[in-house]
Amino acid sequence: MADLDFIYKRKSIRKFKDQEVPKEDLMEMLKAATYAPSGKNQQNWHFTVITNKDKIQEIAKVVADRHTEIANLADEEKNKDNMNKFLKYYTVFKNAPVLVLFYAKPYKTIEYEILKNKPECKDLYDIAISSKSEIQTIGAAIENFLLAAANMGYGACYMTGPIHSRDKIYEIIGRNESKGELMALVPVGVPEDKTAPQPKRLPLEDVVSFID
Ligand SMILES: Cc1cc2nc3c(=O)[nH]c(=O)nc-3n(C[C@H](O)[C@H](O)[C@H](O)COP(=O)(O)O)c2cc1C
Repeated sequence: MADLDFIYKRKSIRKFKDQEVPKEDLMEMLKAATYAPSGKNQQNWHFTVITNKDKIQEIAKVVADRHTEIANLADEEKNKDNMNKFLKYYTVFKNAPVLVLFYAKPYKTIEYEILKNKPECKDLYDIAISSKSEIQTIGAAIENFLLAAANMGYGACYMTGPIHSRDKIYEIIGRNESKGELMALVPVGVPEDKTAPQPKRLPLEDVVSFID
């Protein structure tokens, strides 16, 4: 059997030691990210690394504020409570020594060029772009990054929750459209000695089907 330990040893890490991550290690993880597959090899991604703790805390603050703002908009108490319960889940990066921002640039499709001036073909166009390639591409890059981090002894966590505050995050770090759109945040650091176990997976039989 293939040795897939490098996959099984990754899990989401949400608590970090107060220890710096050397830049060369971060570059190695980012190199791994760039070895992910990308639609038509467009490599339509960008990565920004934040090592300034004040900036990381500032981002955590706007995420927490937006979180509460949304919770307070709930018409039903149970939704408000549920949203509030997830505040920690959306801000686990706040004490990380490093926060990596993953940006996706638009995925250029041939279908767009062909169909853009044909409103009668909107349904066809919508099907053609429904795979959201730029999102799948950045997801592949993030998974490579996470696997590299885990195998280098670091902890990390894929996070999209904070994206509800994207506009506020841009106010802190600036908006450069050539980077694309911010899609996910990944805190990185040396894991604390005691970390939560990886949640169980559904049985394979529940999620796999064959057509023979
Ligand atoms: C698209 C995506 C978004 C996620 N967003 C968050 C998040 O905002 N906060 C968080 O703590 N974990 C987040 N996670 C991590 C998941 O909770 C985690 O992967 C899942 O519970 C399985 O646990 P494992 O990564 O330890 O295997 C996200 C994961 C993915 C793939």
